[in-house]
Amino acid sequence: MESSVEVLKDLDALVDRAQFLVCAELQTAIAQRGQFTLALSGGSTPKPLYESLAQQDLPWDKVHIFWGDERYVPANHPDSNEGMARRAWLDQVPIPAEHIHPMPTQDADPAVSAQLYEQHLSRFFGGKEGGSADEIPALDVVLLGLGDDGHTASLFPQTEVLNVCDRWIGVGNRGADPRLTFTIGLINRARCALFLVAGQNKRPALQAIFSKDANSFDYPARFIRPEGKLIWLLDADAGEGLKIAS
Ligand code: 6PG
Repeated sequence: MESSVEVLKDLDALVDRAQFLVCAELQTAIAQRGQFTLALSGGSTPKPLYESLAQQDLPWDKVHIFWGDERYVPANHPDSNEGMARRAWLDQVPIPAEHIHPMPTQDADPAVSAQLYEQHLSRFFGGKEGGSADEIPALDVVLLGLGDDGHTASLFPQTEVLNVCDRWIGVGNRGADPRLTFTIGLINRARCALFLVAGQNKRPALQAIFSKDANSFDYPARFIRPEGKLIWLLDADAGEGLKIAS
């Protein structure tokens, strides 16, 4: 794993840098494997990046979009990560409909939906579901946000899904609300895990994540150590004063 931390002067600069990095990974992936696989994060931070990507002229027929986590609501619900990305980006570009791979949220049991998405990934990537580490698919880029409690994707502090090692998709929970999420193992197979973190309210979680001895079960983003690149993009409000333990 090669890791880097960049502090950008503001959110616009963070979005510009994120777009540059995503497009660089896209070009490499298409040159090497003929396609680019990208998992989106939800929340508010990535929205301006999605709006900016919607203005780019990219080889959309070679791009496949997944979600790293999803609230357990229909796509037309205001909280839906799929809905946000479609409105901000995917509805504006000529990406083939079958290249958009949303997490299913129709079944009454989120665990069934998690299994369905894992089966979908298995068919797409050709791996064996729940297989050994080397059969877990490697996405080109997994976009990640950071909650002010140190969660990422829907891997929340002190929740069961942090212990799930034999599945690619798990059921996380924010309090009583179920969420579907990439498991730590699936995220860590990524060729590039790219965190986008903005705002002063993220400072305490960031300092714990970059400290020597915080408990990763309290700050799950500490579990993210991808086989490829780990890139943290922070705006100045989030990154000010950050001390990175060696
Ligand atoms: C979600 C996200 C979640 C998000 C963080 C940060 O579904 O909400 O995937 O992990 O990235 O909560 O959210 P903000 O970008 O809104 O601060």
